[in-house]
Amino acid sequence: MPTVVVVNGPNLNRLGTREPEIYGTTTLAGVEKMVRVRGREIGWKVEFFQSNHEGALIDRVHAAADSGADGIILNGAALTHYSYALADALRSVDIPTVEVHISDIHSRESWRRRSVTGDACIAVLAGLGVEGYTTALDLLVERGAVARARRRPAATRKRKAPT
Ligand code: DQA
Repeated sequence: MPTVVVVNGPNLNRLGTREPEIYGTTTLAGVEKMVRVRGREIGWKVEFFQSNHEGALIDRVHAAADSGADGIILNGAALTHYSYALADALRSVDIPTVEVHISDIHSRESWRRRSVTGDACIAVLAGLGVEGYTTALDLLVERGAVARARRRPAATRKRKAPT
């Protein structure tokens, strides 16, 4: 069964009560449930992780590679905007990653507009609320499958019939 690792950064453990006018009232446990339900529907195993510590997030990305995970969904929270270490961790593993932000980082303070981790991802979703997580999983399934098919040696790929 393919596996997605959902990695959540600093302060996301406070979802539900943290600035609800920006992030809504769904808790992180609620987000986890939503992603697990979607995973069950599409036959993907979901591993869910949150830490307030940069190094722990980097270790979790490395562990995802070591265990052969098929995709990562990352909400690096504020680390998104300045953690070159987390961005490099993503580059150090060959796992398609979709970055998610609950809020629209482009319509907030100017320092939030830049995502250094997003540069190492196949897509960045922002402003979809907590639904962004399940949308990210759908995208990962679609894009990840395409990427895996491309990586397969040419001989195992189905050839298009000549026209
Ligand atoms: C966030 C946006 C970040 O700018 C912020 O630091 C967060 C949450 C989001 O999900 O909208 O902690 O990643």
